[in-house]
Amino acid sequence: KSTTLSPLLKMYQDATEFYHHILLTTKAGEKGLTYAKNRDLNEDILNHFQIGYAPDNDQILLTFLKQQGYEDDLLQRSGLFVESKDGQLFDRFRDRLMFPLMNETGRTIAFSGRRISDDPEIAKYVNSPETEIFTKSKLLYHLSEAKKAVRDEGHLILYEGYMDVIAAYKAGIRSGVASMGTSLTSEQVYILRRITPNVIINYDGDNPGIHAAERAITLFNQVAGFNLGIVVLPDNLDPDEYVKKYGKEKYQNEVEGALAPTKFLLQRTALKYNLHNEREKLAYVNDAIALIASLNDPVASDIYINDLAKEANVTIESLKVSLLREQRKQR
Ligand code: CTP
Ligand code: MN
Ligand code: MN
Ligand code: MN
Ligand code: MN
Repeated sequence: KSTTLSPLLKMYQDATEFYHHILLTTKAGEKGLTYAKNRDLNEDILNHFQIGYAPDNDQILLTFLKQQGYEDDLLQRSGLFVESKDGQLFDRFRDRLMFPLMNETGRTIAFSGRRISDDPEIAKYVNSPETEIFTKSKLLYHLSEAKKAVRDEGHLILYEGYMDVIAAYKAGIRSGVASMGTSLTSEQVYILRRITPNVIINYDGDNPGIHAAERAITLFNQVAGFNLGIVVLPDNLDPDEYVKKYGKEKYQNEVEGALAPTKFLLQRTALKYNLHNEREKLAYVNDAIALIASLNDPVASDIYINDLAKEANVTIESLKVSLLREQRKQR
C-alpha cells in the first residue's frame, strides 16, 4: 500500500513509525515511555494512537530520513525540520511525546509534540506548520477512527485535546475527535456534519472551555440539521482529568446526561444574574425569553417556559405573552 502514497505522505508514515519505534523499543525512548506511563498510556493506547517519542536530538529524524533516500527539497517542504540561516536542517521536534495527526483516511499529515518536562517556559505543544498536505483548520484529531464508531455509538464527541480523546477511548468511547484547542472552525463543523448530525461537545470544564462551548454552539447553529449535546464537567476538570479522578462509569454518565444547547445556554445566562435582585431577575427573564424565542420550537419552548416560570416565580401566561412579543421582534 505504501508505494501508492505521495512522497510526503510516505515520509510522514516513515516518521510516524520511527518515533513510535523509538518510544516502544529503544533506550533513547525510555524518557518518553516513563512520561507515557505516568499519564496512564498503556501499550494498547500507544499502538492505537501510534504515539511516539522524539528524543532530545536535533539530527535523529533527519539522519534517518536521509538514509531512507529522501531528497533535501522534500525534507525542506515537509515541515518536520527547522532551517537555519545557512540552510541547515534540524529536527523540529525534540524531547516530545509525538501525536501523529491523521487525515480522514488515517494517513499522518502532521505531528503535535507534547513537552515531557514540566518547564512552563517551554511550549506545551508544538505542531507541524501547514504544508501542502496539512491544513490545520480542517483537521479533526482521530476522525479516521472515530467515524467507524458512529454507527455503534450514535454520535461523535468533540473534545479539545488529544489526551481527552484518549481518555474517552480508555472509557470505552471510540467516537471521540478533537478540534485541537478551543477555536473550532466552520470547516471542522462541515466535516462533522458530513459524518453525523449527532455531535456531543465535551470541552474542558474550565472557563475557556465553557466559553468555547458557547462559541461552538453558535458555529454549529449556522449549519442546519445538527442535534447537539453539551457536557459540562465539574471543578474545571478536562475529560482526561475527570476519567482519572472519577472513573469510566461516572464519565459515561456525564456523557449520557449531555444538555440540550438551549438548556446549557439558559444555565449560563442564569449565572450572570443575581436572581434575588428584582431588577436583575427581570433582565434574566428577558435574556432567557430571547433564547427560548430563537429556538422556533413550540414543544421545547413550552418546557423551558414552564421551568422559567418556576425559577423566576412568575406566571406561565405572562411569559407566553413576552415570548410572542419577542418572536415577532426576532422575525
Ligand atoms: N493546544 C496547542 N498548543 C498549546 C496548547 C494547547 O495546540 N500550546 C491544543 C492541543 O491540541 C491540546 C488542546 O489544545 O490538546 C487543549 O489544550 P489544553 O487543555 O491546554 O491541553 P490538554 O489537552 O489538557 O493537554 P495535557 O493534558 O497534556 O496538559
Ligand atoms: Mn483546555
Ligand atoms: Mn460567555
Ligand atoms: Mn485540557
Ligand atoms: Mn489535559
